Amino acid sequence: MWQNVVIVGAQWGDEGKGKVVDALAEHFDIVARYQGGANAGHTVVVNGTKFVLQLLPAGVVRPDKIAVIGNGLVINPESLLEEVARVENAGVVIGQRLMVSDRAHLILPYHRSHEVAAEQARGVGKIGTTAKGIGPCYEDKAGRRGLRTGDLRDFEVFRRKCGEVVADKNRLASALFAGTMLEADDLAESYYEKARCILPYLADVSAYLNTEMDRGRRVLFEGAQGTMLDLDHGTYPFVTSSSAAAGGACTGTGVGPTRIDAVVGVSKAYATRVGSGPFPTEALGIEGEKIRERGGEYGAVTGRPRRCGWFDVPAARYSARLNHLKALVITKLDILDHLAEIPVGVEYDLDGCGTTEFPSEIAALERMKVRYRVMPGWQESTHGISEFAQLPQKAQDYLHFLVDQVGVEIAVVSTGPQRDQTIWMKEL
Ligand code: IMP
Repeated sequence: MWQNVVIVGAQWGDEGKGKVVDALAEHFDIVARYQGGANAGHTVVVNGTKFVLQLLPAGVVRPDKIAVIGNGLVINPESLLEEVARVENAGVVIGQRLMVSDRAHLILPYHRSHEVAAEQARGVGKIGTTAKGIGPCYEDKAGRRGLRTGDLRDFEVFRRKCGEVVADKNRLASALFAGTMLEADDLAESYYEKARCILPYLADVSAYLNTEMDRGRRVLFEGAQGTMLDLDHGTYPFVTSSSAAAGGACTGTGVGPTRIDAVVGVSKAYATRVGSGPFPTEALGIEGEKIRERGGEYGAVTGRPRRCGWFDVPAARYSARLNHLKALVITKLDILDHLAEIPVGVEYDLDGCGTTEFPSEIAALERMKVRYRVMPGWQESTHGISEFAQLPQKAQDYLHFLVDQVGVEIAVVSTGPQRDQTIWMKEL
């Protein structure tokens, strides 16, 4: 049995990780988010109540689990507190079950304004971000000028650090733009007033997790976004600014790699992407629109329509290698029920040569073509099925084909948003 497991998005995010984490969390003691921020939107449905979680780990909806927010996240305290209130108002008591790393970075108002200005300046080359200030906050972290949750413990420390950063930002703003100058003391005071409410949740998450693991407690590490949006390994620069792939679980929580037993990748039975950037198997036109409508493929955070397309084998193999996936979870199988034929991208054609490697360069990704294998559709409902044997034969064949192509076994198949609309194929 795997003691500590990472759940990672194997595609471009929105794979349905919320439901998967919620389902698996039953068997773990602690659920720890390791990167990203409120750009994520993890949907969990419990007894008909829908929760859209942005910063809180999906495990928080289970009343006996500890929810941990790791140092790898970037946090807007106001959004976090609103989210806690939202979940509690829906009847889930969080109380002492939430722990936030005192090394996580704080999103300040200037991060969001910086992002909006940067996206506008990029014009057609814009990344299509979620406008939550995620990228600029990680920039400040890497630039060693970020403010961290732990800085809130002492207002004078917070005010001083805030003053230094603001002076830096104002220097830049006056050099580059005729921007409005920031006033450090006002900012520090108004921000601190709200942000200090997260103080009771702050802790040394690495110390906590390692101690609990020593005691034999099981940890489920929850990734946000997906491998193809990882800052290093995704379709750079059309990526998010954090380590979304499984490697981020270690740096993002302060747990050593050898403590983690397995990585499970989550992928839709097809593919989607939000925002700009390469999407090799994108289905333009009516086919993509049909999937969008059937799958409700609109951003949980921004409401933006998601770009839809077909399962991409080279991308899945790339993700399997990067994360060393031990198992795959395939979600939203039922969304393909209506199709007579289902294309699967099996190989790329790059300048006349076939390859199953995922190119590192945007230019190559943009000019290459995809070779498809067309699988027969099953054209009957799989919605809510919870036994593999009850799936239509063609749906079983489709799943077997994905396993053969990707080289990773499927452990779970999801056939609807509810907990019981799940096929468990392997004991995890
Ligand atoms: P950012 O994370 O807001 O900086 O956005 C960078 C890119 O990642 C954009 O293309 C976003 O649409 C995408 N992105 C960020 N978070 C998510 C997510 O949770 N699901 C899917 N795409 C995301």
